[in-house]
Amino acid sequence: MIATGIILAAGKGTRMVSELPKALHPVCGIPMTEHCVRAMRGAGVQRPIVVIGHAADAVRQALGGANDYVLQEQQLGTGHALRQTVPVLEKAAASCVIVMPGDAPLICGETLTSLLQTHQNENAQITLAVCQFDDPTGYGRVIRKNGSPAAIVEERDCSPEQRQIKEVCVSLYCFDIALLRHLLPKLSNDNAQHEYYLTDIIALGSEAGCKIAAWEAPDPSELAGVNDRWQLAQAEKHLRKRRLMALAMSGVSIVDPKSCYIDMDVEVAPDARIEPNCYLHGKTSIGSGSVIGPETRLVDTLVGKGCTVLSSNCREATIGDRTRVGPFAHLRPGAVIGEDCSIGDYVEIKKAVLGNNVSVAHLTYLGDAEVGDGANIGAGTITCNYDGKSKHKTVIGRGAFIGSNNTLVAPVEIGAGAYTAAGSTITDSVEADALAIGRARQVQKEGWAEKWRNRS
Ligand code: UD1
Ligand code: CA
Repeated sequence: MIATGIILAAGKGTRMVSELPKALHPVCGIPMTEHCVRAMRGAGVQRPIVVIGHAADAVRQALGGANDYVLQEQQLGTGHALRQTVPVLEKAAASCVIVMPGDAPLICGETLTSLLQTHQNENAQITLAVCQFDDPTGYGRVIRKNGSPAAIVEERDCSPEQRQIKEVCVSLYCFDIALLRHLLPKLSNDNAQHEYYLTDIIALGSEAGCKIAAWEAPDPSELAGVNDRWQLAQAEKHLRKRRLMALAMSGVSIVDPKSCYIDMDVEVAPDARIEPNCYLHGKTSIGSGSVIGPETRLVDTLVGKGCTVLSSNCREATIGDRTRVGPFAHLRPGAVIGEDCSIGDYVEIKKAVLGNNVSVAHLTYLGDAEVGDGANIGAGTITCNYDGKSKHKTVIGRGAFIGSNNTLVAPVEIGAGAYTAAGSTITDSVEADALAIGRARQVQKEGWAEKWRNRS
C-alpha cells in the first residue's frame, strides 16, 4: 500500500538566526527540505505535500513543481501546520499518511518505508517514530503507558523527572488519515509556547483508545533534527560521510575522506580518483579515470574522462577528455576546453571555446575568445577583451602559434596557421599562415654601459 506524505516546512527556523528560511539552508549542496522530499520519493510517495509558510514563495520555488504545496499563513505550531492539510487529505486516495519534519535531512527513504511497514504490520492507527538519545535536550519526551506511547511532553513543559527520559519524539509519524482528520481539530494551544503542538495528538489518540505503535529507529543519528547552525554542521558531516561512502562503493577512489567535500548532485564515474582537499559542488560531473586534486574546487563543472585537474578553481566550465588543467588554473563561466588540451599554471580562461589539442601552458588570460584545434598560446598572452565599455572577441585559427607575451587587442582575428612574434601587440587581424610582428625594433648602443658607469 502506498501512503500519502506530508513534510512540515513552514517554520522560520528562528534558532538558525538567518535571513534564509530554515528549509532552504543547504546540506551537502541541496536545500535541507529537498532531502526530505527525496526521502519521501524513495519511500514511494510520488508527490509529497509540503506545508510552507515563512518565505513560502522562495521555498516553493527552490523545491520545484514536483511536489504539492499547502500554505500555513501563520506559524501557530506543528499541529496547526498539519491541520492546514485536512482539505487535501480528504481527497487522498491512500488510507494512511507519513508525516515528517522539513528539518531532518538525514532521514532516508528506507527508514520511511520501514515506519510504514510497522504501521501496517501492527495494524496501528498511529505509529510514532521514537529514538533513544544520550542527550535528549530540545526533543519532546515520550511517555509510555502499558508499553505504548501515551503522550509526548515538550521539553519546556516537562517536569524534572520527565526531563530525564531519553526516549524522544523526532516528529516522524504515520497516521490513519480518517483518525487524523478526526483528532486534528481537537488540538489546543494551552502550553508554554501557546502553539498547537502536533505532539499532543498522541495523548488525544491514547485517551480515545486508539492503537498507537512505536517504531524504534535502528540508527538514531539519522533522525536528528536541525534547529541551529551547529546541528546543521553535524548534519552536514554525517551526510557527507554517507555520500563519500556511497561513491567509494561505486568505484570512486576517495583518498582522504576527511578533506573531501562532494555535494549530493555531483556525479563521479567509477575509477575517478579524488585526491585530498577537493571541493566538488553543484552540478559538477567527473568522467572515469580522471584525477581531481589535490587542492581543487569545481563548481558546476563538467570534467571528461582521463583528465587531471590539479590545484585549480573552475566554475561553470567544461573540460574535454584527457585534458590537463593546472596547477593553479582558473576556469571561469563559459570556459569550454576541448580534448587533449593542456591548460597550465596561472592561466585564466573565461567565456572562451578552445578546440582539441590546444596548449595554453602558462600565465595567460583568454576571455571572450575562440581558439581552433592545435593552436599554441605562448606564455604571458593576454586577450584585451574589454575597452572599458564593451567586451570584444578574439578568434585564433586552427594551428596558429601565438608567441610569448602577446597582447591581442580585440576584436581581432588570427588566421589558421599564422604566427605572431613574441612580445607583439596585435591590433589588426592576421591572415592565415602569415607572420605578424607587432613590436618596436631593438636598437643597440655600443659601449653605452661603460659611459653610464663612468658618468660624473
Ligand atoms: C518538534 C517537536 C518535538 C520533537 C522535535 C523533533 C512539536 C511541538 N515538537 O520540536 O517534540 O522532539 O520536533 O525534531 O511538534 N513547522 C511548521 N509550522 C509551524 C511550526 C513548525 O510547519 O507552525 C515545521 C518547521 O518548519 C519544522 C517542523 O515543523 O520543519 C518542526 O518544527 P520545529 O520548530 O523545528 O520543532 P521542534 O522545536 O524541533
Ligand atoms: Ca526541529
